[in-house]
Amino acid sequence: MSTKNVIELSNLTKTYQRGNASEVKAVDDVSLKVVDGEFLTILGPSGSGKTTLLNLIGGLDKPSEGTVILDGLDISKLTESELVKVRREKVGFVFQAFNLIPTFSALENVEAPLAPTKMPKNERIERSQELLWLMGLKQRADHLPAELSAGEQQRVAIARAFANKPTVLLLDEPTGNLDTKSGKKILELCHRASKEQGQTVVAVTHATYIRRYTDCLLFMRDGKLFSQIPQEEFEEAE
Ligand SMILES: Nc1ncnc2c1ncn2[C@@H]1O[C@H](COP(=O)(O)OP(=O)(O)OP(=O)(O)O)[C@@H](O)[C@H]1O
Ligand SMILES: [Mg+2]
Repeated sequence: MSTKNVIELSNLTKTYQRGNASEVKAVDDVSLKVVDGEFLTILGPSGSGKTTLLNLIGGLDKPSEGTVILDGLDISKLTESELVKVRREKVGFVFQAFNLIPTFSALENVEAPLAPTKMPKNERIERSQELLWLMGLKQRADHLPAELSAGEQQRVAIARAFANKPTVLLLDEPTGNLDTKSGKKILELCHRASKEQGQTVVAVTHATYIRRYTDCLLFMRDGKLFSQIPQEEFEEAE
C-alpha cells in the first residue's frame, strides 16, 4: 500500500512575546512527517507546547517561523476562507476544553460539522446518533453540554470530531476526563479509524497507556520534539 504525507512540518516555531521582558518559545524548530493511516502520539509535561503544536497543525494559530503542509496544502498560503474550508472538510479537532456549543444539545453538537455538507438532514441525524451510541451516550443525545459530566462532554467532542470522517484527527488530551476503561475504548476507536479508514491521528496527552494503541510515540519538552521517551514518564501507574 502506498503512503503519502498528510502532515509535514518544517522547522516550525511559535514564539509568544510577553511585553518586552520575556518570550516563550512554545514550539521550537519542530520538523515532522505523518503519513496517512498513522496514529502518532506526543507525550509531554504540562507547558511543553503540545496544544500550541496541535493548533498550528490545525491552522488555528499561525507559526512565527516554518511551514505546515496539510494534505498537500501549505496552509500559510491559504486565504482565511480557504483555511476555514480546509479545517471544516479535512480536520477533526478535539479541544482540551471541548469547546462545545453551549446552546446545542449533544446531538446538535455532533451534527454541527455536517450541516455545511450535502448530507440530507435525516442522514446527518442518523450518523450523529450512531456516533453518540458508539461513545456510550445513547441516553444523553438531547442533553445540553452543561447537563453532561466532563467525561461525557469529552466524548461528545470526540463524536463531533469523527462526524465528518476527516482526513486528520487532532486530539488534545482526548482521555483527560475519562476513567481508564472509557479512555481505552476511545483509543481503540481512534486506532480503528487510522487502520480501517486510513485517517491520520495525532494525539497529545499525559496518558502513557496510549502507547498500546499508537504507531509512533514522540516526546515533547520545552517546545522541542524527541524520539526518546524519558523512563520516568512511564513510572506512574497505568
Ligand atoms: N497566548 C500565549 N501567550 C504567552 N504564552 C503562551 C500562550 N499560550 C501558551 N503559552 C505558553 O506556551 C507554553 C506551551 O503552552 P501549551 O498550552 O502549548 O502547553 P501544553 O503542553 O499543551 O500544556 P498542558 O499539558 O498543560 O495542556 C506554556 O509555557 C505557556 O505558558
Ligand atoms: Mg495543552
